[in-house]
Order: sequence, then structure tokens, then C-alpha cells
Amino acid sequence: MGHLLTKLNNEDDQTKDKNSNRSHHSKSINSGSQVFITPGFQASTENSSSRTQREFHKEEQSTYWLPKDEDEQLRLTGQHFALKELFGGNILSKAKEILDFKNGVSVLDIGCGSGVWTMVVDVINKKMMPQKCKFSYGNLVKGLPYADNTFDFVQIRFFVYALTEKEWPIAIKEALRVTKVGGLLQLIEHDIKDHGDLNATYRFTDAVHSVSRARGQDTRIGKELQRLVDETEMANVIQMERKQCNLCANNATARKFAWNWREVASSMMPAVAPYLGLQDSDDEKRFLRELAYSLKTNDYFYTVYAVIGQKI
Ligand SMILES: C[S@@+](CC[C@H](N)C(=O)[O-])C[C@H]1O[C@@H](n2cnc3c(N)ncnc32)[C@H](O)[C@@H]1O
Repeated sequence: MGHLLTKLNNEDDQTKDKNSNRSHHSKSINSGSQVFITPGFQASTENSSSRTQREFHKEEQSTYWLPKDEDEQLRLTGQHFALKELFGGNILSKAKEILDFKNGVSVLDIGCGSGVWTMVVDVINKKMMPQKCKFSYGNLVKGLPYADNTFDFVQIRFFVYALTEKEWPIAIKEALRVTKVGGLLQLIEHDIKDHGDLNATYRFTDAVHSVSRARGQDTRIGKELQRLVDETEMANVIQMERKQCNLCANNATARKFAWNWREVASSMMPAVAPYLGLQDSDDEKRFLRELAYSLKTNDYFYTVYAVIGQKI
């Protein structure tokens, strides 16, 4: 249901991949290169909140609850740079040691959002820039449109609001299926706890928690990543990082994350408003102002986990 973004490093991979996506849905957007898009999935405004007019996916079986419009893509791009600063790069150190990014690796970013991660993941290699990128559509839970053992490096990042607890093991196994033996799967997710009613930041995170729980999702999935990879018995966890950022600290990373939180609160408003007791758009605006103030004035330690599994 989401975009899958791939970067391919040799002609064999490109041919194999083109063939697997060749259907009457495929539309070339750049006939001279490997970039094309398969629109199997339409945008919807039917379930937009009347208050916010945001645009959502309309995949019936999906529990994903964030919008897919331009504002959301901008937020995801901002969040990407905050995460990059938090982890000191786009990929964990073990991936840099093991994979030969200079000579090119095949990369799949599942649910790529704005695609910003893939575009910059190895900018040191100018040969790998966007003409070698390809967007396609797929649903990680239903099965990806790629053969077994296709990619050197696969990423799943921020599926916390897309997968139920039961779907996580299925999703990780599917991602590992398309990863080459010896190749790497990078997983990045946050861990948001229940906090109580102390301030607007806590009230917001508690509402996110409640919405997620009602959908069978786990906002603390970050701390489960290592266990989930281990349980597949398809990969060994070779690196695990846990990073924290105090959102009200006066530094560049905290400011980026605080901006992201204000934006995500706006994106999530249709779902969280009932849990926050907000009746109309004036209530929502008031709450968003209160949250912005709280993010500046109250400590909040945002925790993110990153894990690398190597396929065996
Ligand atoms: C919160 S965004 C994260 C985007 C990106 N990975 C990042 O870190 O910036 C989640 C993305 O996953 C996609 N998505 C949600 N459910 C999916 C599924 N079952 N299969 C594939 N993509 C999915 C959404 O369309 C969205 O682009």
C-alpha cells in the first residue's frame, strides 16, 4: 500500500525488477532510465477529516492512520534529518563496514514516504543518484513484488502506525525474504510510553498510545525490534542502538524533533482529537498551541531504537 523505493546496482537486477513490475498498471515516468511508478493504489479524500481536509490512504485492510498528502511528506523529510542527526548518519556503522556502498549496493526502502532516505543514503557515490532510483507500490504485509534474496540492504523505518503487533513478525520475515543472504535489514522505530496527565506533551503521547492500542498497534515497538528479528531465525542482530533526545533541549536536533512533533500532532488530529476531548477546530488549534509551548518548556525524552539484522 505504500511506496517502495529501490536503488539498483547492476543491469541484471534492473532487468529482473522491471519484469516483476511489468503490468498494465505500470507507467513510465522517465523512459530513459530505471525510474518508474506502479500506481496500484489511489489517493483518497473520502475519509478526510472535515476539519482538516487531510488526504489518507484507502487500503481497507491497513491500520495505517497518518495522512499521505504533501504536508505529511514535508514532515517526513524534516523527521528524516532529525533522525540523521540523532544517529549520526542515515545508516548504522555496521552497515557501512559490511556493505560496499562505494561500488554500489542494491537498496530497498519499504514504505519510503517522501523517499528522502534513499536519495541521500550514499551520496558519496555520485553514480547512484536518482536516475538509479525506482518507486513502486506494494504492501509489506501482503507480500512485496520482489524475488527472494534480491537486495543487499533493506530498510523499514517508522511503521509503528502502520503495523499491528501481530503483523510485525510477518513484515520482518517478508523484508528478510527479499534481503540477500549476508545482506542487511535496518529497522528504526520509536518507544513512546504512557505518561499521565502532567502536561500537553504527555497528554498528546497518551492519546497517540490510546489510538494505537485501539488499532492493535504498539507505540513501544522500538524496544521489541531486536527480539522480533531474533525470533524470525532468519537473521542475526549485529547492531542495536538506543538514542534519546530531550525535545525541549536548546539544540538543533531537539528543535528539529520538536518541529516534527508539532507537525505530527497536526497530522494525527483527526484520530487523537476524541481522546483529547477536542470538540471542534478551535479546540484543536488551542491544543496545538498548548503543545508547542509544552514542547519548549517541559522535558520530554524521546527514545528511538535502530537495529541491524544480517540475513543468515
Ligand atoms: C510514517 S511513514 C515513514 C516513511 C519513511 N519510512 C520514513 O522513515 O521517512 C510510513 C510509510 O509506510 C507506508 N506504509 C504503511 N503501511 C504500509 C504497508 N503495509 N506496506 C508498505 N508501505 C506501507 C506509508 O505509505 C508511509 O509512506
